[in-house]
Amino acid sequence: MNQAVILAGGQGKRMKAPIPKPMFKVLGEPMLEWVLSACEAAELSRTCVVTGYESNQIEAYLGDRCRTVFQAERLGTGHAVMQTIPFLSEDTSGSTLVLCGDAPFIDSRTIADSLLRHTKEKNAVTVITATVEQPFGYGRILRTDSGIAGIVEEKDATDEQRKITEINSGCYWFRTADLIQLLGKITNDNKQQEYYLTDTIAIALQDGLRAGAFCSKNPNVVLGANDRKGLLKLNTAARMAVLEQHMDNGVGFCCTDGIIIERHVEIGAGTEILPGTIIRGNSRIGCNCTIGPNCIIENTVIGDNSVLNSVQAYDSVMDSDVKIGPFVHIRPGSHIASNTLIGDFVEIKNSEIGANTAISHLAYVGDSNVGEYVNIGCGCATVNFDGIKKSRCEIGDHAFIGCNTNLIAPVSLGTYAYTAAGTTVTADVPDYALAIDRGTLSIRDGYSKKKFET
Ligand code: UD1
Ligand code: CA
Repeated sequence: MNQAVILAGGQGKRMKAPIPKPMFKVLGEPMLEWVLSACEAAELSRTCVVTGYESNQIEAYLGDRCRTVFQAERLGTGHAVMQTIPFLSEDTSGSTLVLCGDAPFIDSRTIADSLLRHTKEKNAVTVITATVEQPFGYGRILRTDSGIAGIVEEKDATDEQRKITEINSGCYWFRTADLIQLLGKITNDNKQQEYYLTDTIAIALQDGLRAGAFCSKNPNVVLGANDRKGLLKLNTAARMAVLEQHMDNGVGFCCTDGIIIERHVEIGAGTEILPGTIIRGNSRIGCNCTIGPNCIIENTVIGDNSVLNSVQAYDSVMDSDVKIGPFVHIRPGSHIASNTLIGDFVEIKNSEIGANTAISHLAYVGDSNVGEYVNIGCGCATVNFDGIKKSRCEIGDHAFIGCNTNLIAPVSLGTYAYTAAGTTVTADVPDYALAIDRGTLSIRDGYSKKKFET
């Protein structure tokens, strides 16, 4: 069995927040999530996360998704892996991938390819490396003619060694049985008085075991963040990589300012995304849409040929050819059928809106089923909350709801039902009926004239 251990005990002091470093987000997801999902995508059998600083936050995030082990004192990466020995001992048949929870760009391809090399070369340990222009701060790979001799940390390196540009990504494959043996031999005899996991390489070689290095084609696998500026760099790299992928798929961007698209979002060809648009979670947008400027789309599906301008939409579904905005709030649980028009300052919540319906301005539709070809006039409200419970409104096909109508839920309106402007509807309205609720209009001649004469 091949498995993973993710080191996530670190604090990230320079972030200046009581959050474990691997929980800081890159493109909307904790760095730990990027690492864990790469392991899942590489189909490793199981994973154990080493927690330390503010461990409860990581445990709460992970739930039952994988194992965790708590490292009470942070005495180095080698010490962190020692905490997993009970986990490792449960199955020593295969290999264990050790990764850092704060280097988010490890990818499943690198994991799979390095495992192939590790297995083929019959290595006890295979280090995943990358060659970078700025090796400062990273462990340097010491090469020999026949392979690798070890890893030296920045602080322990000589000036000559510091010039080496091949660096340790912090990810390694170990034969699990060998890892357990090697961990027993690490000491903290170095400048930082830490138990370095990297010492396992030289120890393996001394013990006559094989050690190798796999240089990843993806130099981003090494990237991590030590402070907020570094985190911004990771976000920028991830953001641009996602946008470029969408461009390759035929999505248009005339300007990428303020556009943030999380990595699981799908967008069809021919769609244009305009500035200030944030698309999150599992959102899926069809072909030939125009989204933006200034939209937030979260876990929402939008059909082809739709136009959204200054819309915030959460956990909802819109079919094709909808036109929504500007300044519209679509709240969770809404389904808006095709050809629907939703105009400025409209809020829809937990409602079904039928095809070809128009809700053009200043309306609230909550907890309602609205049919097809309905017209909801300006200023209408579904009065769905009586202070204790929420109730639903049913509005039949072709109904016409006059301006400033209040529908006091629960209430139902039939097909072709009409309400007169200003009506408060407190009883069901049958098909083809008109609900009208008006006092007698009285016109008082000269009313204001008298007022101003005194
Ligand atoms: C480590 C490597 C270095 C490599 C770099 C890649 C060692 C000695 N050095 O250095 O060669 O180039 O990663 O990023 O391994 N952690 C714990 N408990 C601890 C210490 C660390 O869980 O006691 C976790 C941290 O949360 C982090 C990871 O291990 O996720 C790496 O630790 P860090 O201190 O960042 O190691 P580096 O000094 O960067
Ligand atoms: Ca680090």
